[in-house]
Amino acid sequence: MIALESAGMDRSASTVALGGGGRSVKRTLEAENDAIHAHRLRKVYDDLVAVDDIDLKIAKGQLYGMIGPNGSGKTTTIKMLVGLLRLTSGKAYVLGEKVPISQNISRIGYMPQEMAIYTDLTVRENLQLFSELYSIDPKKFEGRADDLLKVIDLADRKDSLVSELSGSMRHRVSLACALVHDPEVVFLDEPTVGVDPELRVGFWKYFADLKEKGKTIVLTTHYMDEAVRCDTVGMMRAGRMIAEGSPKGLMEESGTADLESAFLTFAKKVGS
Ligand SMILES: Nc1ncnc2c1ncn2[C@@H]1O[C@H](COP(=O)(O)OP(=O)(O)OP(=O)(O)O)[C@@H](O)[C@H]1O
Ligand SMILES: [Mg+2]
Repeated sequence: MIALESAGMDRSASTVALGGGGRSVKRTLEAENDAIHAHRLRKVYDDLVAVDDIDLKIAKGQLYGMIGPNGSGKTTTIKMLVGLLRLTSGKAYVLGEKVPISQNISRIGYMPQEMAIYTDLTVRENLQLFSELYSIDPKKFEGRADDLLKVIDLADRKDSLVSELSGSMRHRVSLACALVHDPEVVFLDEPTVGVDPELRVGFWKYFADLKEKGKTIVLTTHYMDEAVRCDTVGMMRAGRMIAEGSPKGLMEESGTADLESAFLTFAKKVGS
């Protein structure tokens, strides 16, 4: 118990889980070691089940890709994990802390699908604002900002107002804001949508670098050429996780040669 608490587990998480017998203890220990651990995560809006009892177990240092058609529950899942949406039921832990997390917020980064940066500030001011929100050492800020501005290819526009940027440029600023505080786990909701192919390559190189440094990345994408680069792919459909595994494993299991066909095969198997 002491060990669990000193390792960053909140009191309610350890109490609830330990109170539930042997299986719960195991789950709690796993929750502590995994970057993300969710059990029967559920979100219901009136009569619509947006996320239908999904389990997630994402080890630290993994690149996890969530795919699925529009409205399949990807964004809702991420919003619950980052604490922006209340769970209807189920439990989730991020870096061992029960969701919604209240401590160590700066260990997590989040790029929302919708734009959440300030259009009346410049690119650099946005980065600085996010950095200050997470109490990042101002001495570290300049270096990180410069690196990220290169990644998003906006170094020459750093003093431009966001309102003067194109949609894709704004999207790229949003990505940099999610990463500026060097989080351990980062949730990126469609980070490459609308981004040109050359820059997308650069983004993926950066994601690979982050992974090499032990960071955990959870992202959503509609691009199968991106999904195939993930360590694990979670296939969502109508709020359910219909298949999960390595891209190669999913293709083998479904007897297909690409992830799109694999998805269709799994979708057919679960029906409706
Ligand atoms: N605030 C809300 N109130 C009611 N229903 C909602 C709300 N937010 C999302 N939904 C519904 O929940 C379901 C899942 O939506 P979600 O945004 O998670 O899908 P998604 O997989 O991220 O889709 P996309 O690929 O279009 O981004 C959809 O049917 C959506 O209409
Ligand atoms: Mg979405």
